Amino acid sequence: MSDFFKKNLLENDLVAAPLAGYSHMPYRRLLRNFFDGIVYSEMISVEGLARRNKETLEYLDRKEYESPLVFQLFGGRAESYPEAVKVAENEAQVDAFDVNMGCPVKKVIKAGGGCSLLGDLGRIKAIVQNIRKSTDKPFSIKIRIGLDQKNLVYNEILKIAENEGVNALIVHARTKSDMFGGTVRLDILQELAENSKITLIGNGGVADYDSYKKMKETGVAGVMIGRAMMKAPWVFEVIKNKQNNVYSYLSPAEIAGVLNRLWEHMLEHTKGRNMKETHYMHVLKKFAVWFCKGFDKASDFRVNIYKTNNIDEVLGLIRQFYGC
Ligand SMILES: Cc1cc2nc3c(=O)[nH]c(=O)nc-3n(C[C@H](O)[C@H](O)[C@H](O)COP(=O)(O)O)c2cc1C
Repeated sequence: MSDFFKKNLLENDLVAAPLAGYSHMPYRRLLRNFFDGIVYSEMISVEGLARRNKETLEYLDRKEYESPLVFQLFGGRAESYPEAVKVAENEAQVDAFDVNMGCPVKKVIKAGGGCSLLGDLGRIKAIVQNIRKSTDKPFSIKIRIGLDQKNLVYNEILKIAENEGVNALIVHARTKSDMFGGTVRLDILQELAENSKITLIGNGGVADYDSYKKMKETGVAGVMIGRAMMKAPWVFEVIKNKQNNVYSYLSPAEIAGVLNRLWEHMLEHTKGRNMKETHYMHVLKKFAVWFCKGFDKASDFRVNIYKTNNIDEVLGLIRQFYGC
């Protein structure tokens, strides 16, 4: 079990980040066209799992071919983790778990999870101890380097992770105060890589081959990609081919094909669930707009697609814009 991260990263050292609202099963299925490495799920509430909440359980939906897939958990109550882990293992095929200790959004902080844990190392320790004694599955924790530059806690968390049987540490090399801007502290990743006895994955600001290479040179075993994969799921293939041309890598017709495939996965996912057929339409629109970065008349397309809430019109606009 301890080999899960090491083994998979040796085959592909890129990692697809957890992205709430985006790394759902339809998008993860799409990613598999471009990427065979480790993929993270959206964050899943520990309290919801422990209570067997029906909507929370749906986050465990997956295809077998999605492996290697990591289910990311969030929640601040250490005592809820053993039940949550048990429920997940009973309900789904689990390859590995992760705990979100780096998310700055209100919903997660309010639940005592995400970044709020960076100010309570005792709770981090209790959470990882509870997971380790509840499951043999490999698990990672995903942190930021601290609450702000004056309160950096990455070394303390590394020690906890090493001592308590965590299999991999993912470090978004920014602080909570940085949110999604600020400098990505590659110097800290290097320091951690020199000292870490467990698998280390770096994260923050990687969007093409050059930025990947800079992060990899710190000595991390893996490089996790977030927003860039939301804007271009083929970014993994671009980086593997040592290229930087993310926004001209696919032809318009190929992008239209990607969007159509994504919509098929979305439609399939709504079937048999308490979801309208158009449940994912607004997300499809966002992807359609992101994928057209750099194209002529992209701003007209953006305006037109956001004007309509009719799925046939949305698909028609995509066909028209991407010329097929
Ligand atoms: C829309 C959005 C949703 C996110 N959702 C999660 C999440 O569910 N769990 C998590 O640990 N991080 C989440 N993150 C943070 C990313 O996983 C990643 O750590 C961050 O975006 C930095 O990487 P990047 O610079 O490559 O985007 C989210 C970020 C964005 C922009």
